[in-house]
Amino acid sequence: MKLLVTGAAGFIGSNFVRYAMKVHPDWEIAVVDKLTYAGNLANLEDVAGGPKCRFHRADICDAEGMDRIFSSERPDAVINFAAETHVDRSIDDPSLFLKTNIVGTQTLMDASRKAGVDRYLQISTDEVYGSLGATGLFTEESPLKPNSPYAASKTSADLLARAYFKTYGFPTLVTRCSNNYGPYQFPEKLIPFFVTLLHEGKQVPVYGDGMNVRDWIHVDDHSRAVEAVLLRGRPGGIYNIGGGNERTNIEITKFLIEAMGKDASVMKFVPDRPGHDRRYAIDDTRIRAELGVVPQVPFQEGLAATVRWYLDNESWWQAVRSGDYLNFYDRWYSKAGR
Ligand code: NAD
Ligand code: DAU
Repeated sequence: MKLLVTGAAGFIGSNFVRYAMKVHPDWEIAVVDKLTYAGNLANLEDVAGGPKCRFHRADICDAEGMDRIFSSERPDAVINFAAETHVDRSIDDPSLFLKTNIVGTQTLMDASRKAGVDRYLQISTDEVYGSLGATGLFTEESPLKPNSPYAASKTSADLLARAYFKTYGFPTLVTRCSNNYGPYQFPEKLIPFFVTLLHEGKQVPVYGDGMNVRDWIHVDDHSRAVEAVLLRGRPGGIYNIGGGNERTNIEITKFLIEAMGKDASVMKFVPDRPGHDRRYAIDDTRIRAELGVVPQVPFQEGLAATVRWYLDNESWWQAVRSGDYLNFYDRWYSKAGR
């Protein structure tokens, strides 16, 4: 298998590449990443650079650049993780979200189609469904009702994948996963943000009343599900992926406070995120029944291991905090004599 993976210098993409190289040592993986603020080559330091994993710094919105990479790499399949991903940033300025997440997806699908790839997997999100009340679950048939600019841009990309399948017979697959946690997550997202603040003895800002619910899944369970959809999913198929693990933000915050040996006084309630989705919860019957995928990492164990990872890898997040990680690309290339 020759695989092209975009956005793999980010959180989920880098974990997926590490997982795929371990489980499929015969695969060749081409990584494409623009290295935005969220991209960090240190996330791939132990796996990228050899003949089995080549890195290309490129923007998925650049059609000529994509054609060049597809001509040299000739991938059998593509997974598109590349995106602007932080809801709060999309509220401050939606423009880059629309460009990368919508135009970037279109450009990448056009390049993939021209190159005749056998499978194209679009990494979408459960945020396409909007928000649930106290009961019910998102199924793949739930109406799409995105509430943030981020979610609207991801929904557009998700629907473009559908349109390319229907119109051109292009073999797209779509996954819609819930909130991931694990190592290498950019410390602007809830769990690594709070762990790093607590480590520094600061208060943690809980939005609104803290009763918003997310369905948390370990990133390795997400990687296993992506692998299954890539290899065995139905072209044109859409697959929910969830952890079966609903938690309020207060529950998560209390867990982190305890794990870090602090007391409840460090919890600070701050004004709510505008349009803040109340509850996400996934019905993953389809991926269980069709592909036999079930999450394996118990939440308490996974979260405790994740907290330990951030504590053991302080140099990783301190480099992100200081901005030094942005120089990693230059250092990496000069070390390789390029
Ligand atoms: P991330 O922000 O950690 O990483 C995104 C990566 O995409 C970065 O490496 C960045 O440099 C790259 N990128 C951004 N714009 C690019 C462009 N124009 N061209 C090439 N590369 C570009 O994100 P993540 O949390 O790893 O999310 C990965 C994917 O999974 C996204 O599509 C996201 O919508 C989706 N998703 C995330 C979650 C979650 O909980 N984090 C859940 C469901 C779905
Ligand atoms: O559901 C999948 C989505 O999960 C992905 O598509 C997104 O890319 C990913 O960022 C994530 O979105 P969320 O908005 O759910 O994640 P975030 O970590 O930003 O916030 C999780 C919850 O915690 C949410 O209810 C907002 C709250 N929060 C977040 C931050 C950063 C706080 O209360 N305080 C904070 O400082």
